[in-house]
Amino acid sequence: MLLLFCAFMCPCFWPRGRNVAEQPVLGNDMVSMDSSSSFDTSSKSQKRAGTPRHVPPSPSRFSLSSEISPGPFHVNVSQIAKATHYFSESHKIGEGGFGTVYKAVLPDGRVVAVKRAKKEHFASLRTEFSNEVDLLAKIEHRSLVKLVDYIDQENEKIIITEYVPNGTLREHLDGQHGKILSFSERLEIAIDVAHGLTYLHLYAEKTIIHRDVKSSNILLTENLRAKVADFGFARTSPTDNDQTHISTKVKGTVGYLDPEYYRTYQLTPKSDVFSYGILLLEILSGRRPVDGKKPPSERITVKWAIKIFREGNVQDILDPLRILSLAFRCAANTRVNRPAMKEVVEELWEIRRAYTQSLNHD
Ligand SMILES: *[C@@H]1O[C@H](CO)[C@@H](O)[C@H](O)[C@H]1NC(C)=O
Ligand SMILES: *[C@@H]1O[C@H](CO)[C@@H](O)[C@H](O)[C@H]1NC(C)=O
Repeated sequence: MLLLFCAFMCPCFWPRGRNVAEQPVLGNDMVSMDSSSSFDTSSKSQKRAGTPRHVPPSPSRFSLSSEISPGPFHVNVSQIAKATHYFSESHKIGEGGFGTVYKAVLPDGRVVAVKRAKKEHFASLRTEFSNEVDLLAKIEHRSLVKLVDYIDQENEKIIITEYVPNGTLREHLDGQHGKILSFSERLEIAIDVAHGLTYLHLYAEKTIIHRDVKSSNILLTENLRAKVADFGFARTSPTDNDQTHISTKVKGTVGYLDPEYYRTYQLTPKSDVFSYGILLLEILSGRRPVDGKKPPSERITVKWAIKIFREGNVQDILDPLRILSLAFRCAANTRVNRPAMKEVVEELWEIRRAYTQSLNHD
């Protein structure tokens, strides 16, 4: 049986997109899902398989403490309550199945997002919450949402992260922020996300697999730099070697979910690469990965895009062809055919270089 739920800090926490899509990719079991909901196929505890062959990171390069560095001080509940005007509606910026997100200004002036879990979900949150806190505490990258502090008490579970002011990538693709994103803005966003994921896969203390890469989990700054958010589903992996994997229940979002992972329960960083490929198509086309409003032949964006691509109907919008073919390679059905995130980044750099050059020649 498939037990579906949204995880704390997951998409349900961010304002939802309007179009609720269907779920043809995963069949009829998932009828209650929309394309922006994350899901989870089991309520059982996860177990790990394979031999951990983690190479100890070199201290100079990876000297990341597993302890939280809360900045100049640790906040307590009463300070957070005050900073959010006692969790008032006026400070609310998002709502989800497991809790509410508020914007707040800490006593030291930092603007933060405060994610407060609802009490009735504490039990089911136990692993997601500590998982997210533990992983966020270990990462430090411009393209990843940063943990500021957290409160984990009997009666209060709160995660405080940096506040990223310009909403989600999905909102921007939907035109909810007015201006349509330009090609170079899209390219920069794609590169930022690829940088963040490369860091998680290769340079974090341990390999981290995000497992829920999607446009509603990408937040944009005022300058339209992208930051990957929502680590509630993220997993550390014993190695970055593709041969080994974690056997685990399937979590993710319909439309972005690696079909090989779905079939075999084997999770590797290439599952993020698949989701990234779908995201790249979404960035290029503006279309959701699955759009139930479209005629059946066009419903699944990656299939639709491959068809258009084969027919040679791709509009002459700058240099989408290379990015498209990169997206297709990322979204390959089998992971051996997918590039690593690092190769994706390198190719995007090359595309950017060529694009900048073509602008200068105009
Ligand atoms: C919270 O921290 C503030 C500032 O350090 C302090 O004045 C206050 O007494 C604390 N409140 C509680 C309930 O611990
Ligand atoms: C968000 O992005 C738009 C461009 O789409 C920009 O004009 C605006 O200033 C940004 N900042 C905020 C806070 O909306």
